[in-house]
Amino acid sequence: MRAYASRFYDGYFVGVEGDVAFYAAHAKEADGAVLEVGCGSGRIALALARAGAEVAGLDLDADLLALARGKAAEAGLAIEWGEGDMAEFDLGRRFAQIHVPYRTFQHLLAPADQIRALHCMADHLDDDGLLLFDSFDPLGQLAAEGFTSPLCKDTDFVDTATGHQVVVYYSRAADPQTQILEQELIFEEIGADGVAVGRTFTRLLLRWSTRWELEHLLAGCGFEVMALDGDFAGGAYPGYGNQIWTARKV
Ligand SMILES: C[S@@+](CC[C@H](N)C(=O)[O-])C[C@H]1O[C@@H](n2cnc3c(N)ncnc32)[C@H](O)[C@@H]1O
Repeated sequence: MRAYASRFYDGYFVGVEGDVAFYAAHAKEADGAVLEVGCGSGRIALALARAGAEVAGLDLDADLLALARGKAAEAGLAIEWGEGDMAEFDLGRRFAQIHVPYRTFQHLLAPADQIRALHCMADHLDDDGLLLFDSFDPLGQLAAEGFTSPLCKDTDFVDTATGHQVVVYYSRAADPQTQILEQELIFEEIGADGVAVGRTFTRLLLRWSTRWELEHLLAGCGFEVMALDGDFAGGAYPGYGNQIWTARKV
């Protein structure tokens, strides 16, 4: 089962409040090119390019990359797209900044993969280059709501390509041993006559990391943490929830 259904990506995965402005503002200040790792359908990469940055995007999902390519072509933005795995890529060049937005780093399900990815990113950064990423530690939420949640309606939206209403059902199971959150998403499409015309099932596995786990991982892979915020407006990190990391290659 796929992690993402590209047809419904833009309708459902709308990001974290303030993320586009945060990454674009940093890209605008970059002293060289910016690489977005896990660029998906181009939600952030296009904004970085619009902010005036020279941008490259890497993702392992060819369907999402095709969407990104199409949007950039339509907007007349020159972005270099590449298909590859963030834990083992070699683009043969370095960047002033690497951005890993919208919890993409959490797709790495084992510490060894996280380490390989961080080394790979360090290898692609200029000296003093910046690594910016955000992740989510759900422990506060899990403590309040429990480790599992039954399948329930989450939201709905209109698929702009078909005009169909799409109802999204969500369930969650968190394993505190592996720190993996397994999320099941069902996208049910409703036609104009109100009859369901299809269901698409996806399964998203994301690994959470605590604050100090990531501090140690970053330090061990050649990064100095410059800031950890709790939101994209620079709010203090309360110990759980959104983690907005700014790190420098040392
Ligand atoms: C939540 S989406 C974020 C997409 C985009 N950055 C955004 O903000 O909309 C996570 C992305 O990471 C990609 N991804 C997952 N594992 C990856 C890996 N090992 N290497 C590269 N990309 C990966 C997925 O295909 C997906 O496009």
